[in-house]
Amino acid sequence: MSLKEKVLSELLLSAGKYCSGGQLSEDYGVSRTAVWKAIEQLKAQGCQIEAVTNKGYLLKEIPDIYNQQYLESLLHGTGFQVQHYAEIDSTNRLAKDLAAQNAPSRTVITADVQTAGRGRMGKSFHSPTGGLYMSVIVKPDLPLSATMSITACTASAVHKALEEFGIVTQIKWVNDLFLNGRKICGILSEGSFNAELLKMDYLVIGIGVNLHADPYLPEELKPIVTDLETETGKKINKCQLLAAILKNMKKYFDEIQQKTYLKIYAENSCTLGHRVRTDTGLEGQATGFTEEAGLKLRLDDGTETVLSTGSAQIID
Ligand code: BTN
Repeated sequence: MSLKEKVLSELLLSAGKYCSGGQLSEDYGVSRTAVWKAIEQLKAQGCQIEAVTNKGYLLKEIPDIYNQQYLESLLHGTGFQVQHYAEIDSTNRLAKDLAAQNAPSRTVITADVQTAGRGRMGKSFHSPTGGLYMSVIVKPDLPLSATMSITACTASAVHKALEEFGIVTQIKWVNDLFLNGRKICGILSEGSFNAELLKMDYLVIGIGVNLHADPYLPEELKPIVTDLETETGKKINKCQLLAAILKNMKKYFDEIQQKTYLKIYAENSCTLGHRVRTDTGLEGQATGFTEEAGLKLRLDDGTETVLSTGSAQIID
């Protein structure tokens, strides 16, 4: 870890209190000038740091910079092990490779930028700076039917995590989170099915959240995609959001058999009650969810059908 990162973790962990420059230089065995230089580098990265004689340095606003030590303190005791990359092709790709090589459950891969982010249905997922991109390896000991609800369970967990920051999202079946009518989060679950045991060997749950505006957002995405800062004015720190998401995932996964997530999923759905068109061309009224978060549709001829996966565009 560089001195700059060490100083930042100290400022983050001291939560609103001043850190003495002398103490920092003593703790890290460097000169006061070296500490001052690290502070200047952090300021250049956008950190608002106040320096007061005889008191030290104070972080005035938590910056959206990844810091491993700070994240570890937030995740203490949860069992999640996070590997962070400044840039990667896809966190899901790496997490799947690691899972196939027997990486343990609760291994998490995260990155600041993805150059080949994966979306659902073989699409790509635009992943510039300013987003939270994370993939979680899980090895659930669940019947296949319950495994299918893991994506919906994750959507409820992300919804609850964002609520902790005062942001209330809507969940669009099956796993998109929307704010003010546009998408702010997508979820992609991939995995390996064990045909002999009829269960999943592992699942990789990939989550992408748009935190800040992307000045290079492709024209075709502008009407459908937005970000948390634009919609709420809030600059959310990605370590804090990552930790909140992981803690909520743990809670709702642990309670998956009790279906705790399903109430949150239904209460915050923007699909229920609307007329939708599916990717397979069906049209009907979304009337409810099954126990595994499958979408119940009443078709125009009055019959009911259930969709267990796919996508449903709201048309009315
Ligand atoms: C979708 O909306 O189609 C799903 C998008 C999922 C994107 C996340 S970002 C982190 C993880 N790594 C990927 O390559 N994809 C998922």
